[in-house]
Formats: sequence, C-alpha cells, structure tokens
Amino acid sequence: MTRTPIVAGNWKMNKGTAQEATALINELKAALLESSGNGAEVVVCPPFTALAAAKQAIGASPIALGAQNVFWKASGAYTGQIAPQMLVDLGVSHVIIGHSEARGRFGVAEPDFTPDVLKQFGETDVTVNRKTRAALAAGLVPIVCIGETLTERQNGHTDVVVQTQVQGALEEIGSDDVTRIVFAYEPVWAIGTGEVCGADEADRVCGVVRAAVAALYEETAAQAVRVQYGGSMKPDNAPDLLTRPHIDGGLIGGASLKASDFAAIIRAAQS
Ligand code: PGA
Repeated sequence: MTRTPIVAGNWKMNKGTAQEATALINELKAALLESSGNGAEVVVCPPFTALAAAKQAIGASPIALGAQNVFWKASGAYTGQIAPQMLVDLGVSHVIIGHSEARGRFGVAEPDFTPDVLKQFGETDVTVNRKTRAALAAGLVPIVCIGETLTERQNGHTDVVVQTQVQGALEEIGSDDVTRIVFAYEPVWAIGTGEVCGADEADRVCGVVRAAVAALYEETAAQAVRVQYGGSMKPDNAPDLLTRPHIDGGLIGGASLKASDFAAIIRAAQS
C-alpha cells in the first residue's frame, strides 16, 4: 500500500504573532517553489494566536494548517479551551493531540523527565482519546503523539508503552475513522535534545504502532494509517528516516522554524 507522506511543523510556542507567522510561511512558500518533487502533504502548526494570519499567508498554496491542541466539548464553561469547530472555522484541517510536552507525568519518578510542571498539562490516554474523537467528528485530522521516556526505554518498556498509548487513543473509534488518524512516534528523549532515534529503531517502533492498529482493526486499516517519526529530525538525518518502510513522514519541531531546513525535510519525504 502506498501512503502519502505527511510532514508537519510543530512550531510549539514560537512565531505566535501574526507578523512572525506570516514571514515564516512566506519564506516556506518561496523555499518550496524551488522544490522539484511532489506527493508529500505539508502542514504547519503555529500557536493559536497566529492561526488566522497563517491561513491568510498560506493563501492558495497547498500547505495545510494545523493547531497544537483542541478540547473535546463544543462550547461551555471551559475557560481557555478551544473547540474543534472553532478551529475548522479558522481553516484548520489538522490538530496535534497528546504531545509529550502536554501529557502529564506528575507524580511519576522519572529522573530524565524535566520536573518543569509548566511544561506539562496532565494529558492522559483518556483525554487524548476524547480529543481524537472530537477532532474526527469535526472533520479534523488528528496527529496523535505517542512515545516512551528514556527510563521506559532503558527498562525495556518501549513497545508496551507505545502499544498502550495507541490502544488508549483508539478507544471507541471505528474502522472508517482510524485511517484518518496520523500517529507521530516521538521518543520523549529525542525531542528537542538533538538526540535522534536511529533510523532502524525508529522504523521498528513505527512498525510496532502499525501492528498495534492491526491488532484492533483489519490489516488494510493498519496499512493505510500513517505513522510519522518526530524528535530532532533535521535535513541531514531526514533522508535516512524518511525512506524507511514504516515511517510516513515527520513531526518537526526546531527545524520547522527555519524555512530552508523544513523545506529540505519536505524534499526528503518527497523523493
Ligand atoms: P524537535 O521536536 O524536532 O525539536 O525535536 C519535535 C516535536 O516535539 O514534535
């Protein structure tokens, strides 16, 4: 089965003013014009504050717009939350859900995990599932992040952590919907650290993600689901990662903030 690669830029809490987002998207559009290949889906995920300006800057170009979070309720007394339909109304088509910087690790003794509570927002497999279902119901493409911490890897728990997160995200999701979900395998220890997961191992774990989907649905659904790798992907390591059989693109943090680097990664996904 041929899967269209998907490369998404997770800007995190950067470039969140209209001016900054517009400038970066204009640079990206220019860099992509030089690109010879095609066939990869490209998504940029600015902070909420820049979504409207980003949509305008994207204009008629094929770049898709993603948000970095969503709530599962349609409206109500949920201070600070954003409903799926509000994103759709802004022209958003994709949404990142369950990023490790949002998942909660409170109370868990993990020496490698930054005890910076301001960075973590208590996301669990249950909230990830609710958000994923709400996003699907609104017609958004959920980019569901999963991945193990360094301690979990060192203890040999990588596969079971990833399987549990996939199963948790997919509760009560039917086989028609599952193929619209994009999983992003992001080993926590490789995010923003410059420490990239080797391509063989990244591909192996992306295969574990696919097998976890296959265990719940038909094999054809598992073959259709796209699995990205994320964690310190850069122009130099992207070609090796993006040509592996189970890796269908990337979720890019740091390198998505530089148009030429992001465009180089997109080209690697296209070739
Ligand atoms: P990074 O971030 O590319 O800066 O490691 C990836 C992510 O957090 O999605």
